[in-house]
Amino acid sequence: MIVEALTGKRLPHGRREGLRTLQEEIYADSFERIVLRPLGATIGAEVEGADLCGGLDDATFAEIERAFLAYKVLFFRGQPMSARQHLDFARRFGELEEHPFLPSGDSEEVVRFSKDENTVGIENMWHSDVSWRLEPALGSVLRAREVPAVGGDTLFSDMVAAYECLPEDVKEAVEGMTAVHDFAHNFGLAMSAEDREKFREQYPPAEHPVVRTHPVTGKRLLYINAIFTSHIVGLDRETSDAVMDALFAQAAIPEFQCRFRWERDSVALWDNRSVQHYATNDYWPQVRVMDRVSIVGDRPR
Ligand code: SIN
Repeated sequence: MIVEALTGKRLPHGRREGLRTLQEEIYADSFERIVLRPLGATIGAEVEGADLCGGLDDATFAEIERAFLAYKVLFFRGQPMSARQHLDFARRFGELEEHPFLPSGDSEEVVRFSKDENTVGIENMWHSDVSWRLEPALGSVLRAREVPAVGGDTLFSDMVAAYECLPEDVKEAVEGMTAVHDFAHNFGLAMSAEDREKFREQYPPAEHPVVRTHPVTGKRLLYINAIFTSHIVGLDRETSDAVMDALFAQAAIPEFQCRFRWERDSVALWDNRSVQHYATNDYWPQVRVMDRVSIVGDRPR
């Protein structure tokens, strides 16, 4: 029954009422200190007029915070931040996380994604960061240190639009479902069984609603991702896999996405509660070095 409702249902041709309504809400707001150049229908904007390297007054920050919630991912070009400035900017949104599995950069709170001819990009799967935590990250600030001449774009997908555009019977079918998110589903694969058990004590599998409510905007959104979600609670394996595949596929629908072409010192700030992202792996053997700082979030509800 659930699978029947889910499979074969894609974004219908013709009018996209859900997207249009969401877009109108986003565009209803206006900004005086920053200029926004929208990228996708309901997600992503390039920001002009903000200096993230220490020159951000409270009024400009307040506009950035408002734009962040509405557009879900913001991009800033030409921000040659020091590690300290990177951390300071992220801290304006809250306390910072340390990642237990990924390599650090200049401090423990900085995750460094460093790729070259010997290290290939593996972030080319739709995901939201650390959904295996009981309290997954609120958001992240990613800064480009070195970029390939061509390739290495990052795509973002709006999970509010992905939910909003589901057919009504599918929304009903997934209402109240919960799913398990588990680090072992991804990071755990490269660990010894002993290490996996050790980390499991610290990071037990986390059960989150499949449809969560954004704690600030109140928007309902799909919260399930291909890297860390292992199964839907209460469904047999076959049904759970079918439901997850159908919901994972929502992130890959271009109408819900925006795509960013990096330059050195570009910065992306995304709301990890309401978007998924995908870092293209199309630039090997070129060098690509990115620093990510993530902000502690709250328990999905
Ligand atoms: C990530 O998955 O957080 C990394 C994104 C990127 O390198 O573009």
